[in-house]
Amino acid sequence: MSESRIIKKTPEMEDYEEETGKLAIWKGKVNKDFKKWQIKKQKDTIKKEKIETLSLSREERKQIKTELKQQKEIGKDYKHLIVVENLHKTYLLGTTAVAALRGVDLTIDKGDFIDIMGPSGSGKTTLLNLIGGLDTPTRGKIFLEGRNISMLNDNALAEIRRERIGFVFQFYNLLPQMTALENVMVPLHFSGKLSKRGKRKKALDLLRLVGLEERSHHAPSELSGGEQQRVAIARAFANDPAIVILDEPTGDLDSKTGIMILNLIRDLNNKGATFISVSHDAVVSEFASKVYHMMDGKLTHEGKIGGLKETETMQIRRKQEAEINKEKCKSLIFRFFFANQGKNQIRVSDIKDSIPNLIIMNLPEHFNDILAELIQENNINGIITGDILFLN
Ligand SMILES: Nc1ncnc2c1ncn2[C@@H]1O[C@H](COP(=O)(O)OP(=O)(O)OP(=O)(O)O)[C@@H](O)[C@H]1O
Ligand SMILES: [Mg+2]
Repeated sequence: MSESRIIKKTPEMEDYEEETGKLAIWKGKVNKDFKKWQIKKQKDTIKKEKIETLSLSREERKQIKTELKQQKEIGKDYKHLIVVENLHKTYLLGTTAVAALRGVDLTIDKGDFIDIMGPSGSGKTTLLNLIGGLDTPTRGKIFLEGRNISMLNDNALAEIRRERIGFVFQFYNLLPQMTALENVMVPLHFSGKLSKRGKRKKALDLLRLVGLEERSHHAPSELSGGEQQRVAIARAFANDPAIVILDEPTGDLDSKTGIMILNLIRDLNNKGATFISVSHDAVVSEFASKVYHMMDGKLTHEGKIGGLKETETMQIRRKQEAEINKEKCKSLIFRFFFANQGKNQIRVSDIKDSIPNLIIMNLPEHFNDILAELIQENNINGIITGDILFLN
């Protein structure tokens, strides 16, 4: 029996013959060309299937994206701004493990000013770094605005840091080659929401908020420690963060300047900003709304504890001074009004320029609040809109 009788023409061979006009079986043998054609056909089919599965996964990816978006929406219904659950962090140093956090639970609400006190090495910075998305926990969960951030990858964490967190460190961390204004503008460059002009305006507004508008073009080296820290605070607010994290914010300042910074933070807190701060001592606790103590990686107890805090006499004197400065400020504003009679629009910054900085820095409230109070007390027909006082 010859082979030619065994070989039967398959439907595929018929396809080949139709497509190429050649014979699939020639002299009782399968044509080599047909075999090549067959392999090519198979490869094409595999390729087609691959494309189909790819587009399928594209569909799937779309679905995952929608689900993620929905999850984010769910996150909007959160009860607490931040919830920390059973947080653990263990650092590996060669073969030794350092348990820096050993089961921390903490709840932070909008408008809180939380201070965590504790000795060196107790885990304060570690906790802040985890809450601020600078590091990930070994165990436990952190919910920020209802979203679990403890499992996020580096890119997602970077986005959260950029958009939701403000940081203030002990050593200000300002960029030395940039002016105060440029330093405050840095976080605004990443957000891309504002025009160049808008960024400048926002940065100037923030510098005004911390009483440093007139120092906007100074380099950090031309500013005092307290002023540099005020720039750092303005910068922390640039991205409208959900929370501002302060790691030893007054640690490098003398006590009087430290208290000035804490006054500023308390003012901003009274206006609704949320803070979490850590420190070695109890100065900050005097200004905070909630105080915790940290020991060996655990939050031990809540409540205000005495320590290096501002003494009662210091506090009374500070409050008295603030009140005296407020009255001085009001009488100087009156003098300014008198000198500018007839005008019905005055820039608040012009009024402010006529008051010595020392007085402004030691006011119990912000300058604009004092101005508004003065207008109300004296039945002056005027309103402050942005930076302008309209009189009629
Ligand atoms: N990157 C790291 N690698 C290894 N161990 C670390 C690391 N960071 C911190 N630790 C250790 O974890 C523990 C807690 O450190 P952490 O910096 O959180 O303390 P702290 O309370 O902020 O101290 P301080 O008041 O001195 O700033 C310490 O024992 C520290 O040595
Ligand atoms: Mg620390």
